[in-house]
Amino acid sequence: MLKGKVAYITGGTKGIGYGIAQALLDKGMKVAITGRSLQAAEKAAATLKGDRAAILALESDVSSLAAEQNAIAAVVQQFGQVDVVIANAGIGHFASIENISEAQWKETIDTNLTGVFHTVKAGVDPLKQTKGYIITIASLAGANFFENGSAYNASKFGLVGFTQAVMLDLRKYGIKVTTIMPGSVATHFNNHTPNDADAWKIQPEDIGELVVDILQLNPRTLPSKIEVRPSMPSK
Ligand SMILES: NC(=O)c1ccc[n+]([C@@H]2O[C@H](COP(=O)([O-])OP(=O)(O)OC[C@H]3O[C@@H](n4cnc5c(N)ncnc54)[C@H](OP(=O)(O)O)[C@@H]3O)[C@@H](O)[C@H]2O)c1
Repeated sequence: MLKGKVAYITGGTKGIGYGIAQALLDKGMKVAITGRSLQAAEKAAATLKGDRAAILALESDVSSLAAEQNAIAAVVQQFGQVDVVIANAGIGHFASIENISEAQWKETIDTNLTGVFHTVKAGVDPLKQTKGYIITIASLAGANFFENGSAYNASKFGLVGFTQAVMLDLRKYGIKVTTIMPGSVATHFNNHTPNDADAWKIQPEDIGELVVDILQLNPRTLPSKIEVRPSMPSK
């Protein structure tokens, strides 16, 4: 069912995007991954397991609409189509409203919210051709606010609302839209280095498995918003 289909994944150099890329490759899909530098994207692509011809590494900063349009055009040129767009790229700045800077606010919104708008906007036309799928990676921080989270919460609450409205806009074209809202995932997020103490967290490959399950659901069914969290709390 997924074999031969093409996915475009923003922020696939590490963490959740990388885990999704590997899971889709394992199902016989072709994948394009992006990062802010071509070097990082190519380095990550080289470590993905699978048919080399099924993997494309691209540089694109999601804060630029033109960059996202160019990246998706490159995917269509290389693989002929786009079936799945995963808007995953994201960052976090965490500080109280007294301390968070304008630059940190802007980078958070430009990446996590406007960046997803750019990715989705660039993906709509090719996805109309394939009656494809858009998945955005939001967060439980898109439904639960916390101290020092003003910029991140604003970006993720916004992203959840954005994705649900887009889901209603695109359903009529046969394009499905889902937002995944993970809790703690063992990634490099916020300068973290994954380690043994992260064993209780969701692992990136688990989000990959979830994406595969979503894509393989009976097409009459659309899980529009999914909260996912570690089954056991941290000790
Ligand atoms: N980890 C968690 O606990 C958790 C929980 C809920 C939601 N999330 C969300 O999951 C998504 C992925 O994060 P992660 O946890 O996997 O973190 P990560 O390991 O730090 O990976 C982030 C990815 O996003 C890319 N990226 C960042 N800014 C970008 C930009 N402007 N343009 C293009 N790519 C960009 C990075 O690529 P380069 O650095 O190579 O540019 C990297 O590939 C984010 O949206 C995050 O908010 C994470």
